[in-house]
Amino acid sequence: MASFSQSLYVLALFAVLALWNSRVTMSRKLVELEAWSPKRHEQWMVEHGKYYKDVAEKEKRYQIFKENVEFIESFNANNKNLTFKLGVNQFADQTFEEFKASSLNGKKGSLGLMGMEEIKTPFRYENVTDIPETIDWRKRGAVTPIKDQKDCGSCWAFATVATVESIHQISTGKLESLSEQELVDCVRGKSGGCNGGFMEDAFKFIAKKGGIASEAKYPYKHVDRTCNSKKKEPVASIKGYEKVPKNNEKALLKAVANQPVGVDIEAGQKAFQFYSGGVFAGKCGTKTDHDVAVVGYGSTEDGTKYWIVKNSWGKNWGENGYMRMKRDIKSNKGLCGLAMNPLYPVAFA
Ligand SMILES: *[C@@H]1O[C@H](CO)[C@@H](O)[C@H](O)[C@H]1NC(C)=O
Ligand SMILES: *[C@@H]1O[C@H](CO)[C@@H](O)[C@H](O)[C@H]1NC(C)=O
Repeated sequence: MASFSQSLYVLALFAVLALWNSRVTMSRKLVELEAWSPKRHEQWMVEHGKYYKDVAEKEKRYQIFKENVEFIESFNANNKNLTFKLGVNQFADQTFEEFKASSLNGKKGSLGLMGMEEIKTPFRYENVTDIPETIDWRKRGAVTPIKDQKDCGSCWAFATVATVESIHQISTGKLESLSEQELVDCVRGKSGGCNGGFMEDAFKFIAKKGGIASEAKYPYKHVDRTCNSKKKEPVASIKGYEKVPKNNEKALLKAVANQPVGVDIEAGQKAFQFYSGGVFAGKCGTKTDHDVAVVGYGSTEDGTKYWIVKNSWGKNWGENGYMRMKRDIKSNKGLCGLAMNPLYPVAFA
């Protein structure tokens, strides 16, 4: 028979356990509260150098921030077996509508290729058979550091410049950062600076003018300004451009094996906005609204094939500014339409 003191001992043990348990619950609650105090937003503001004009604006941004963080956390929790993750980045205080309006291809770009004249070009890599398993033009010194288009729909200028910087390095051995602002200010036709534009117009402009100025001489201002091209000496030139046959990732592979290529994609979705790493394979359509440069390809240890994509949203987004996008998907249009309209500049021989 258990003694009275033994019973007391057991009771005391229970009491201690119960107390401990309630403390754990309490501290868990505290952690949750802590997570959702405006402190978390303030820390993020410091990290990203954000300022708001008044208290009302800060409160509004805090609510958007909170919703976005909740979206990101529940996406990651509910999609554990996806090949990519989302993260809280510099876009976390923007609504999806604001993000689409400021960081993609402006209003004109979102019209896609509608109304663009279909120009057929030769494809010089048609018969290429020497295609390495992987290629990363960054490792070959042909890619400049990640840039940031900021709140200007000038992705088309950044994608154009990225491919011209690369072909210039591949053909001359010199890596030179080139001017997006010159394209924003001077390329017209169907293109309109921060309102969006087309890589085709930009390649034509560079070829016709006989080159493009350096980033240093014609720096980026993220607004449309008066064209100041005549006074800026070109430092890199191209003969023209060619298109990769449409809807053909095999043809795209042949091209990227030889030089970085500009592509149109649909990036207007939240998983894209908050992509933080891995091989992106999110659901996206083919209503192209953004331009990027494909600077390589490869596959993961488990055999997932990907393209290496250089974006123009700064180094805080994605994998230090880059995204790996799933390659060789079922649709011949490529993930997010990336195989629909790839094109690349042609160097002077
Ligand atoms: C995980 O992936 C498999 C196969 O890709 C899929 O069928 C399954 O629904 C996924 N599970 C979850 C929880 O998403
Ligand atoms: C590829 O090969 C075919 C058949 O020999 C030839 O007609 C075509 O001109 C070649 N293409 C290029 C770009 O060299």
